[in-house]
Amino acid sequence: MSQKAHEIYEEAYRVWNPNKVDTFRGFGIEMVMGERSGNRFCDLDQNEYINMHSNGGVFNLGHKNEEVMEALIEGARLVDAGNHYFPSEYKNQLCEAVLKVSPDSMKYVYFLNGGGEANDAAIKFARKATGRKRIISLCCAFHGSTGLSMMAGEENMVKFFHMEVDPALNTHIAYNDLEELEEVLKMNDTAAVLIETIPATAGFPMPIENYHKSVEVLAHKYGALYIADEVQTGLMRSGDMWCCCKLGAEPDIITTGKGLSGGYYPMSGVIMNEKAGGWLKEDGFAHVSSFNSAELGCIVANKAMEILSRPTTKENVAMLTDVFDKGLHEIQSRYSDFLLEIRQCGVIMGLKTAHPMGGPLLMQNLMRNGVWAMMANFDKSAIQFKPGLLMNKETACEVLNRLEAAMKLTVEGM
Ligand SMILES: Cc1ncc(COP(=O)(O)O)c(C=O)c1O
Repeated sequence: MSQKAHEIYEEAYRVWNPNKVDTFRGFGIEMVMGERSGNRFCDLDQNEYINMHSNGGVFNLGHKNEEVMEALIEGARLVDAGNHYFPSEYKNQLCEAVLKVSPDSMKYVYFLNGGGEANDAAIKFARKATGRKRIISLCCAFHGSTGLSMMAGEENMVKFFHMEVDPALNTHIAYNDLEELEEVLKMNDTAAVLIETIPATAGFPMPIENYHKSVEVLAHKYGALYIADEVQTGLMRSGDMWCCCKLGAEPDIITTGKGLSGGYYPMSGVIMNEKAGGWLKEDGFAHVSSFNSAELGCIVANKAMEILSRPTTKENVAMLTDVFDKGLHEIQSRYSDFLLEIRQCGVIMGLKTAHPMGGPLLMQNLMRNGVWAMMANFDKSAIQFKPGLLMNKETACEVLNRLEAAMKLTVEGM
């Protein structure tokens, strides 16, 4: 590690985030990002890595996507954040672009700054729409670190900051368990069922057949709304714009974020049908934030949406889906004792291993082989695999070769 990287690390330990620095050091990972472009980035010592985490989807279009960068630069000459009190052509354009690729029942889009904030807002909007308070969510999901979205997530995070999960307001259920869901819904006090379409932090365990459609039907049967958290699974990662729709469901609210920013300007969105968005007619000032629908963000997101909506992007995701499907199964045939499950829906991928710490072990050995991928925090036996959507076939094959080398190292070291 260069002197400069070392100094940055020591200072980060002092003033930025001692435990985060320590945790990754514990896994043998010390990374200060340097140059970056497309699906690759370097550390300060010019070691190159292929990005297979994509920051959960922030880098869906790769690092420093040229078209998005141009839109940002041009946009900055043209506008600034604008004023959230006034409409603008860029805001309208982005609403139209998002609605065009969403179910016909969707009527409004509310733009915010991050995924957690979008889920917070979605919960509020569902409570307003139904006049009820209870939010049902999965125990294995992560919806953000802000107030209401944190409450809907794992309890340890809530307790850490001495907040209370009120069991009358928040109920956590098991993934894929429709009976448990119906038992709670029968109390007829649920505002919304909030489901991360395929839970990333659990290592992308796949849903049972018709799971999301059943969630939708059950929620409506008992007067609740269905919110699909598509912050990671949306924006073409499944091969369709929204993974929940690909899997046959039509939610009342879809939340999106990460890749909507094109990797540059923080943007998230709450897409709503008439029922969920009805409050916008009653009191448009009820949920405000200074940077909501920031004009520069809208310009950047418009470009990201344009790229994501291109047929060539869909075709590339289909190509990558095939390459990873075949390649991962070939690797599994040689490491079947270690690689227990390949979970895949488009390029939403999770690798479940036989070792309880298989995720961090693979993460470390992938790093040694020039690939950055992130373990699944709620299931350390698994690792998440999320390539950029525009990655070419050659790079995907390179990833597979490096994965096999990392797997060899991991298995030999066990
Ligand atoms: C599924 C999901 N929802 C919400 C969030 C929160 O998004 P943000 O970090 O932008 O607040 C995340 C972040 O990782 C996420 O993975």
